[in-house]
This record gives sequence, structure tokens and C-alpha cells, in this order.
Amino acid sequence: MSTKIIQHDINLEPFMSKSPDFNRKSILMQTERSFKSEIINIITLTALEKLFHIRISDHFERENFSFLPGQFVMLHLPGCGEVPISISSSVSNKEYIELCIRKVGKVTGMIHRLEPGAIVGIRGPFGTHFPVQKMTGCDVLLIAGGLGIAPLRSPIYWINEHRSKYRDISIMYGARDPDQVLFDYQFEEWKKIYGLKLLTIVQNAGKNWKGRVGLITDLFKEITIDPENTFAIVCGPPVMFKFVCAHLSDVGIPRHRMFVSLERRMHCGMGKCCRCNVGSTFTCLDGPIFDYWTVMNLKEAI
Ligand SMILES: Cc1cc2nc3c(=O)[nH]c(=O)nc-3n(C[C@H](O)[C@H](O)[C@H](O)COP(=O)(O)OP(=O)(O)OC[C@H]3O[C@@H](n4cnc5c(N)ncnc54)[C@H](O)[C@@H]3O)c2cc1C
Ligand code: FES
Repeated sequence: MSTKIIQHDINLEPFMSKSPDFNRKSILMQTERSFKSEIINIITLTALEKLFHIRISDHFERENFSFLPGQFVMLHLPGCGEVPISISSSVSNKEYIELCIRKVGKVTGMIHRLEPGAIVGIRGPFGTHFPVQKMTGCDVLLIAGGLGIAPLRSPIYWINEHRSKYRDISIMYGARDPDQVLFDYQFEEWKKIYGLKLLTIVQNAGKNWKGRVGLITDLFKEITIDPENTFAIVCGPPVMFKFVCAHLSDVGIPRHRMFVSLERRMHCGMGKCCRCNVGSTFTCLDGPIFDYWTVMNLKEAI
């Protein structure tokens, strides 16, 4: 039985200077190129995650590289392989992009061994983005579990840079253990964003953890949601966004106003290899950002 896709128009935002349209031919032409790039800084976040600052070497290519919150790149390590990684920085940072990478296997393991000065390749940007423009005039809930905070940084920067266009902003972040909490060094900075509420929680408290203990859904007790005027961005493992989106749905937020990132194994990033399919959908082209209504209508998406 073929899968019915209800396509949301998140790529039809008129304001975008460079539309990541659904014209796949143009995407292919644009994304087969690999930009020679240099790792200029590495920040160790936890035992498994590092934040890499990566600068496209050619001045002209760097100036012209643009992306939108939620998009990803293919990071190529010569002689080793290539991995899809969400861009974790501000769209207005034209000097370098930030990629938060968890060491899980062959390529990410090798990337973790690199030092500043190492040369890598960047293809992209790829995929759909969070429709941040559509969210103007509304409350925005940014909800992350674990490594899901990495793709959320880009919309957080965006909202901060366009703060007057949004109403209340809440960031809800849950991690398994305190030593897995990412970007805690930025929390004070985020709390200073006007009208922003930051709530963090861990599942297993250690001796030194003084914050909340429990599941991310426990944080809903602490916020008031205006379902008529709220958008939600949810990033994390499918089991987490399933529960979170169910709760958001229960309080009345329509599913087409919740956005999630569907991560599948990817190889080409541009609709050629069929590694990332969910039904007839290519998560590299039609995603990774989908509204939850679409996800619910995709067989075997979660
Ligand atoms: C759109 C997108 C954005 C991503 N963003 C990030 C990011 O910001 N930071 C980050 O650290 N990782 C991110 N990932 C996951 C990352 O691409 C994989 O962890 C990476 O490809 C693993 O490569 P490897 O060679 O190190 O591991 P492998 O040796 O290939 O595999 C090691 C283990 O990881 C599992 N694995 C590999 N790829 C995936 C995947 N895509 N999803 C789930 N499990 C996988 C394998 O099944 C295996 O168990 C993203 C993936 C996608 C599709
Ligand atoms: S990653 Fe090759 S088709 Fe999507």
C-alpha cells in the first residue's frame, strides 16, 4: 500500500532569500559540491560530544554559504566517510558553522580525534527547516531531549536575533544524567533573552545536581500554554517526541504547528541512494524537519 503524504508548506516562506525549494534538480546541482573547510576550534562538551567550529576555506564560498534553522550538512572526512550533522549555529554567523557531534561509530569516532587545523569537506546545506518566520506573533516552545538541543540552538539564536517578533519563548531541555547536559555554559546567556523561560530536567540525579529530576514531560506543569497561539519545535529521540507531541496535542496545539526532526541513516543527502526513505518520502529532501501531522501520516515514521 502506498503511503499518503500530506505535505506541509514549510518551504514556501516568501521571506527567504534563497529558497530551499522542492525543485530537486536545483538541489542536486547545488549539493553535489563539497566545500573544503578547516576545523578552527573544538570545544569538548561531554565525554561523547564535542562542538566543532568549521570554516569554509574559500572566502567567496564562505560568504555565499547560507542555511536556515534546522538544516543539516554532510560532513566529509577524507579517506573515512561522510555523516549528516545538523547545523547548530546562528544563520548570521558568516565566519564558521558549529556542529555538535556525538561519537557513536566509525566516522564520528575519527572526527573526534581531529585537532584544530584539520581539513574536512562540507556539502549542503540540506533539507527542510523550522518555519521560524511562520511563528512570528506567537509563543514558541523549544523542546529538546539529549543531543536534540544541538539542532535547537540555531532557532534559539534566530529568535534571539528577532526577539521582538515573537511572544513568550520557553526552552524545555531534558537529559538522562547531569553529565550529559549539553551547552549548560550558555544557559545564563539564554535566560537573559527577554521573556524566555528555560527549564531543565534530568532523569537520574547525581550527587551534585540541584535541579529538577524526572521526565521532560514533567516540565509541562511549570508552563502555561496558549494553544491558539503556540508553535512547538521538538528535537530528540522518537520515543521522547512521541510523548511530548501527544501532550501538546492534548492541550490543544494542532499537530501542524508542532515540528520535529526525523533522523534516518543517510548516505547521499540528495535523494539518490534511497537510504533515508520513510515510505515514498526522502527524509534528506522532504525532511528532516516535518510537522507532526505529516509524521503521523507517514507509515513507520516513528
Ligand atoms: C538529518 C540528521 C542530522 C543529524 N544531526 C546530528 C548532530 O547534530 N549531531 C550528531 O552527533 N549526530 C547527528 N546525526 C546522526 C549522525 O549522522 C550519525 O550519528 C552518524 O552518521 C554516525 O556515523 P558513524 O560512522 O560515526 O557511525 P556508524 O559506524 O555508521 O554507526 C554507529 C551506530 O550509530 C547508529 N547510527 C548511525 N547513523 C545513525 C542515524 N542517522 N540515526 C540513528 N542512528 C544512527 C548505527 O546504527 C550504529 O549503531 C544526524 C543524523 C541525521 C540524519
Ligand atoms: S540520503 Fe540518499 S536518498 Fe536520502
